[in-house]
Amino acid sequence: MRLLGIETSCDETAAAIVTRDASGAGRILSNVVRSQLTEHAPYGGVVPELAARSHVSHLDHIIARAAAEAGMPLGDVDGIAATAGPGLIGGVLVGLTTAKALAAALGKPLIAVNHLEAHALTARLTDGLQFPYLLLLVSGGHSQFVLVRGVGQYERWGTTIDDALGEAFDKVAKLLGLGVPGGPEVERLAQTGDPHRFDFPRPLLKQDRLDFSFSGLKTAVRLAAEAIAPLSDRDAADICASFQRAVTEIVSTRARAALARFAGQMPTVAPVLVVAGGVAANRAIGGGLRAAAENAGARLVVPPIPLCTDNGVMVAWAGAERLALGDTDGFDIAAKARWPLDAPDMGLGHGH
Ligand code: KG4
Ligand code: ZN
Repeated sequence: MRLLGIETSCDETAAAIVTRDASGAGRILSNVVRSQLTEHAPYGGVVPELAARSHVSHLDHIIARAAAEAGMPLGDVDGIAATAGPGLIGGVLVGLTTAKALAAALGKPLIAVNHLEAHALTARLTDGLQFPYLLLLVSGGHSQFVLVRGVGQYERWGTTIDDALGEAFDKVAKLLGLGVPGGPEVERLAQTGDPHRFDFPRPLLKQDRLDFSFSGLKTAVRLAAEAIAPLSDRDAADICASFQRAVTEIVSTRARAALARFAGQMPTVAPVLVVAGGVAANRAIGGGLRAAAENAGARLVVPPIPLCTDNGVMVAWAGAERLALGDTDGFDIAAKARWPLDAPDMGLGHGH
């Protein structure tokens, strides 16, 4: 089957066409992403109203390009999938309403996709993974460990009690006057810095839980920067390197604990840790996770970075996985700003 996927929940306008055969193998026919980065840059962060308007301006062209690059008329798809949440509600409404209109006009089934589920299932497309596996989702909006048991079967094992990890990178970058998005800038500066100059706190690390907290760390970075202001280039690089060392240690320690829990609950399953979200691009964190996985005898799977950040492929693929189970949505389905992955309305709970 062939699915169109539409993603508009944050600052990427994206559409893609993906196939899934009866064996569960997938193929990407097209993948079009338009970032709004430069539109939001003057404001130092994503402006929701501006994002929604920009999605309105561009989404129809992006969808047309996705069909053209796949070499097929839109009417040949077997279903229309769109992110229905969680995310910035104005943008989600643009994508979901467009999907409803297309589904109605073309007479195709509609699949309302949870954005987090789309991230969670991507590794089945890219690496053909079987259930269950452990997911670490680290993006600008989310930091969570999720046990992925099946399509619609998710157990959240830990989340952030304040900032998301990508958000912490972005705030540190902003504090240091670096560009957006902050994560890659902090990583670039960190390469030349001394990771041991500052000993930043590792909140919650001594506690026996899989949750994250990054806001205390961000405050510690601010206080350290204020104490030595004005900052030289060297100071800024040392702060970035020390911050990155702290978060790498936090994430790796948590991953070790999550993999230990996985092994304890499912001793007969070969453990797999999947990393998704924009922060998966960070090489220091990736190295820490690789070591944690090796230590636990687990396989680490990081899908190609363009499929870890927001894109239409993951939405089309999640739509295909749901459609394969006969799980479609009515036109009365609502866009949701909040939609936790383990909410009761997450679907039928099929395990395959
Ligand atoms: O998944 P994503 O593209 O968008 C969502 O948040 O859904 O993730 C973007 C986040 C931003 O906070 C960005 O600063 C962070 O991922 N990020 C990074 C790196 N590349 C992107 N953080 C650390 N190191 C990176 N290399
Ligand atoms: Zn995302």
